[in-house]
Amino acid sequence: MRRLLMENRQDSTQAMRWLVGLSLIGTLAIGIFLRWFLAGGVGLRWDFGYLRHAHSHLGYYGVLFPLAWLGWRVADARAPSRRMLLVYLIAVVVAVGGFLRAGYGVEAIVASTVVGGIWLISAWRLRTHCRALSDPLALVLPSVVAAQSCVAPIAYFLRRDPLLAQGLVSTFLSLLLLGVLVPSTLAALRRRIIAWPALFALAVLAACGLGVWPGLATRVGLIGYALAIGFSLLRPLPMLSRIELGVWSAMCVGLLALALGLLPNNRSVAIGAIHFVILSVIIGSLAPAWLPRRLAWWIWVLHHLAVGVLTIAVVLQGLRPPPWAPRLAAVAGATIGLWWLTVLLANVIAPKLAAGRRRAR
Ligand code: HEM
Repeated sequence: MRRLLMENRQDSTQAMRWLVGLSLIGTLAIGIFLRWFLAGGVGLRWDFGYLRHAHSHLGYYGVLFPLAWLGWRVADARAPSRRMLLVYLIAVVVAVGGFLRAGYGVEAIVASTVVGGIWLISAWRLRTHCRALSDPLALVLPSVVAAQSCVAPIAYFLRRDPLLAQGLVSTFLSLLLLGVLVPSTLAALRRRIIAWPALFALAVLAACGLGVWPGLATRVGLIGYALAIGFSLLRPLPMLSRIELGVWSAMCVGLLALALGLLPNNRSVAIGAIHFVILSVIIGSLAPAWLPRRLAWWIWVLHHLAVGVLTIAVVLQGLRPPPWAPRLAAVAGATIGLWWLTVLLANVIAPKLAAGRRRAR
């Protein structure tokens, strides 16, 4: 029985790794194409909104949540089984196909409901973590529930008040980022947090501030959240690498700058910040749980430099945009894509081909 469970666990880990890899390629491909379109480098025959939905949903559904699950495994917590993962995979394919075909159409909504259901089930299974105040995974269940409570209002206001619906979407995405993905990454890095109810309250305030309730909530929530995460980085053990420390500290400084009004709380700044957190902080920190081989530190430095340039170029577009900023963002995006293509070829595909050749001999 124990062996069977172990095999199931290994199979589902493998399936998650493939899902992350393929979804990352798809997400990057659409994202880079959109960046070149925004820079005036390529034409577009598709609806921009549909492509953007497909990009962001594939990223959250196919890359970030399965990566978080791999992080839970590192932290010895329960992640979805092989069977649940199969249902999830089908739902992701149908949802992304639906977003590409018709935006928020019937397929996208039905399949996204299945995806949301699996998030809820997997979060519910972490409920025992709420008993330990300093366990980052304790935040997952309340944050998934709070984020999902935005879904019905988003659907209701989508046509009646598109601006409010956009604010709710930003709150939903921020809550998932601050309340689920950042804590899951901290858990994989074996960090402790301040009391989780306090961090959860700060994440909710910050997410409201970044979406439906800008103003005081943004400042209080973001300052508290950034300081609380900074506090968990300061604890000496276990050691973080200098690169990890650098990108996490950059995230905290960026959030403080936003909270103190040094950066305006507008869409370009939010998009730049989201991409830095996703690419450098979350994917960068969780990559060891996903990639079969570790990468040398200087290879990561190249990645974070390209992400840094992308972030600055996108954030600049929310200040007083120089005319070259969209092109710079597009070039940085393409560099990140090339970096991942090289890493995936060298790290995953080439060793598999070599092993296949050895077995054939
Ligand atoms: C796993 C990686 C990524 C994830 C999870 C992700 C996620 C997101 C999210 C959540 C949004 C906001 C969508 C919205 O507000 O409706 C977005 C927008 C966007 N992303 Fe990404 N992204 C990723 C990587 C990239 C990369 C590498 C590029 C290329 C440089 C890129 C280009 C874009 C563009 C052009 C937009 C639309 C910006 C706009 O509407 O002004 N993304 N992405």
